Amino acid sequence: MDLHLAGRVVLVTGGSDGLGAALVRTLAAEGARVAFCGRDEARLLAVAEQAAQGPGEVLPIVADVRDPDALARFVDAAADRWHAVHGLVNNAGASSAGPFETQDDDVWQADLDLKLYAAVRACRLVLPHLRRAGGGAIVNSLSVTARAPGAASMPTSVTRAAGLALTKALSKEFGADGVRVNAILVGLVRSGQWERVAAGQGVPVDELYARMGTASGIPLGRFGHAEEFADLVAFLVSDRAAYLTGTAINLDGGMSPVA
Ligand SMILES: NC(=O)c1ccc[n+]([C@@H]2O[C@H](COP(=O)([O-])OP(=O)(O)OC[C@H]3O[C@@H](n4cnc5c(N)ncnc54)[C@H](OP(=O)(O)O)[C@@H]3O)[C@@H](O)[C@H]2O)c1
Repeated sequence: MDLHLAGRVVLVTGGSDGLGAALVRTLAAEGARVAFCGRDEARLLAVAEQAAQGPGEVLPIVADVRDPDALARFVDAAADRWHAVHGLVNNAGASSAGPFETQDDDVWQADLDLKLYAAVRACRLVLPHLRRAGGGAIVNSLSVTARAPGAASMPTSVTRAAGLALTKALSKEFGADGVRVNAILVGLVRSGQWERVAAGQGVPVDELYARMGTASGIPLGRFGHAEEFADLVAFLVSDRAAYLTGTAINLDGGMSPVA
């Protein structure tokens, strides 16, 4: 299936590792023009080098999404380079969950800053560009905990539930402008964050994937691959998904207890 993404300008936050990096490579392979950000320049440049093998173009930008000025510079850099923006993927994030009574205000504020306010601001910055282009797509990378919060899952589960509400509310408000807004609810997918968990535990990452893939009760019996996330998001930002908006898709091998 041709996604017709050649020449489309897509912004990806958190594109220097894991799911975001796979997405940058996939979009570039589809011929898109991809601006992506993260805080670490070396990791951004490494992904840019991999993605440069595709027919698309890439623009790595050092930006901390918690900093409103840096976020604005990121969006402006893409718009200045390519004179249009057709898509935004709010993907930057990190896991933050633990027993409720151990999570103080600073932990809650940090999670909201990184995963909610950054997405709110990025949407606000990008929407005028999408309207000018006659429409476009926003995809919010969330977690299955948004709909199925477990014990000791906060603040992430609450922040992600807010991201789900943001997704739905934006889809209602901007559908008339041709802007589609969807979310991916991620379960357990191979990425840099899990490599760091394995390193912290002193075990090979494949061992961690095998152990958790079995112990987590995933019907398909394994962790997902970052490329599986990338394929789904590439479809959602493309016009092939033209009638999909306001929805959230579990990417979890069937793990979530709710559809
Ligand atoms: N993989 C999973 O199993 C899973 C499950 C549920 C939800 N998710 C969500 O999916 C998204 C991607 O996760 P991942 O597993 O791919 O994580 P990852 O491998 O740790 O990658 C996270 C990306 O976000 C960037 N990032 C983090 N903080 C940032 C900041 N303040 N400003 C700009 N960029 C920032 C990181 O770059 P720098 O650190 O260099 O800035 C990196 O590029 C996250 O939102 C995560 O919460 C993933």
